[in-house]
Amino acid sequence: MVKIGLIGTGMLGEAVGLHLLKSGFSLCVYNRTKSKTKNLEENGAIISDTPKHLAQSSELIITCVKDGDAAEQILFGQDGIVAGKHDGLAVAEMSTINPSSAIQNSKRLNEEKIRSLEIPVMGGPNVAIDGKLVLMASGDRDVFDKYKQVFDTIANKTFFLGKSGSAHSIKIAMNLQISLLALALAEGITLTKKAGFDPEKFLDILNSTYFKTGMSENKAHKMIRDEFEPTFTLKNLKKDLGIITATAKDFGAVLPMAERANEIYNDALEAGFGEIDYTGILAYIKKLSEN
Ligand SMILES: NC(=O)c1ccc[n+]([C@@H]2O[C@H](COP(=O)([O-])OP(=O)(O)OC[C@H]3O[C@@H](n4cnc5c(N)ncnc54)[C@H](OP(=O)(O)O)[C@@H]3O)[C@@H](O)[C@H]2O)c1
Repeated sequence: MVKIGLIGTGMLGEAVGLHLLKSGFSLCVYNRTKSKTKNLEENGAIISDTPKHLAQSSELIITCVKDGDAAEQILFGQDGIVAGKHDGLAVAEMSTINPSSAIQNSKRLNEEKIRSLEIPVMGGPNVAIDGKLVLMASGDRDVFDKYKQVFDTIANKTFFLGKSGSAHSIKIAMNLQISLLALALAEGITLTKKAGFDPEKFLDILNSTYFKTGMSENKAHKMIRDEFEPTFTLKNLKKDLGIITATAKDFGAVLPMAERANEIYNDALEAGFGEIDYTGILAYIKKLSEN
């Protein structure tokens, strides 16, 4: 049985961990805020005090923390994973981070003789709880092959994309779709309402066309009802837009919509909408018309 360690039990990490436990894997977990490991502990996880201790008793560690700074801290900080390294240890980075940070982290881990893979995912806690994420992998192919059973438990579709950095380059292109889709729906709903129509009618028609999406068929109804209970926070999507625009510059890609979306989500964050679901961009867009 693979000894899996999981670091970061926020919304996504907790759901991934619960599904691994339900699927029969043994799991050791660490989270900076210990109270957020309670649910996993009640479902059979062993709790570690530090990433170092977790590393000492794991062979595959999945990290799922907020951003590049948090990932670096977990890996290389005091009592981090590197401090608990041992022969055969492998790290799989699920957090959404900058592709250049992924490459850098992988290089540093390899220098420490720790094998590394990147496994960013699409889908939120609501599908992670049933093992239905979509997983993009890059880095050490042998780690991917060796633990394929674990990744196939987490996700119902996995893609191995090549050398380190590849998976995150595609992941951020995915999150660009999320941010623009949410904005397009928010503006469509606002416009329809201002025109004096029930926005459900807008969705009825949109969802009868080729231009429907999973978001317009599902979350959009909650958006209309002002239900923004987070599965993926607006502040984390704004974090990703920062990565998207910075990475676009690195790659020499000019992305005017990404630039504008980054500004709009940043304004929403500054206006206090950061802790709600990213679809709460609708609440911010609606507010603009009130002024
Ligand atoms: N939610 C989704 O739908 C989704 C989907 C795909 C990818 N992702 C990505 O997955 C990652 C986690 O997302 P989430 O939704 O689970 O976010 P979340 O609920 O905000 O959780 C963030 C996690 O990161 C930890 N963290 C933050 N700063 C830290 C630091 N400096 N040191 C150590 N730990 C730190 C938090 O620990 P504390 O509890 O101590 O704050 C928490 O465990 C993010 O990179 C996100 O972009 C999320």
